[in-house]
Amino acid sequence: MGGWAIAVHGGAGVDPNLPKDRQEQATRLLTRCLQIGISALRSSLPAIDVVELVVRELETDPFFNSGRGSALTEKGTVEMEASIMDGADRRCGAVSGVTTVKNPVSLARLVMDKSPHSYLAFSGAEEFAKQMGVEMVENDYFITSDNVGMLKLAKEANSILFDYRIPLESCGAAAVENPPLHMNGLPISVYAPETVGCVVVDSQGHCAAATSTGGLMNKMVGRIGDSPLIGSGTYACDICAVSCTGEGEAIIRGTLARDVAAVMEYKGLDLQEAVDFVIGKRLDKGKAGLIAVSSKGEVTCRFNSVGMFRACAAEDGYMEVGIW
Ligand code: GLY
Repeated sequence: MGGWAIAVHGGAGVDPNLPKDRQEQATRLLTRCLQIGISALRSSLPAIDVVELVVRELETDPFFNSGRGSALTEKGTVEMEASIMDGADRRCGAVSGVTTVKNPVSLARLVMDKSPHSYLAFSGAEEFAKQMGVEMVENDYFITSDNVGMLKLAKEANSILFDYRIPLESCGAAAVENPPLHMNGLPISVYAPETVGCVVVDSQGHCAAATSTGGLMNKMVGRIGDSPLIGSGTYACDICAVSCTGEGEAIIRGTLARDVAAVMEYKGLDLQEAVDFVIGKRLDKGKAGLIAVSSKGEVTCRFNSVGMFRACAAEDGYMEVGIW
């Protein structure tokens, strides 16, 4: 056994011109969440509890696209989704179309632990949340003014955003002359948020994964992405755990998370080889990234998008926090 390891992501598809203060904000948040996970692992919390704890933290902070700060639908509403999987016994839980649950990842955990099912959506998920007594808030809590501005621009550009930036040119000549939104004092680009996730192997060699998102900015009402889909956006087994981020439709086509485990299991590849193989063979160029750990204590972060907000650490002292 190689000891514990953890990786956290805050989404793929980063603007190459991301302003310095925004980079610093992202780095601070990722580092804080990584430290929360490391402390929990040092206190011998099981992998499944650590991934839930870390993703809750990311959902509560509005910086990334999950929980508070979620991307908005074409109607300006929030429909969040999340999933969690325990590699020790391959139990899993997922939710979609959640509108009032403060921490969707914990509702997914309850689906796994307290329901006879693996996946609940829309009114059924909300009803289950009420029965379970989880913290619920008004839909407005999740909607930030940044995201309202981004939705407006996405609509003007007739674009569904996964990328962290849409060029103002795509919003038309009037937008270039009179930029409609200033963010961080920079009118040159528009920032769209992305998904969060965490993968952990604990010191017992048990793997777990969790992913949470508001989906894509300006998505159709009712759209479901990869994040709640076990095998696409999230997967964990006794070999590895994987959480993906990027354009959900591409990740679903590639069954990315499960394929990493499958090539390790059936081809005997190690974690890094498996991740490189799957990203090279199964993922359309420029679309996504993933974080992964193995039961041997290996950890990796890989993407073919411009960047991916990420942080990882292992018991042997390895640590990395990066954007590009
Ligand atoms: N990867 C997030 C989504 O497409 O919803």
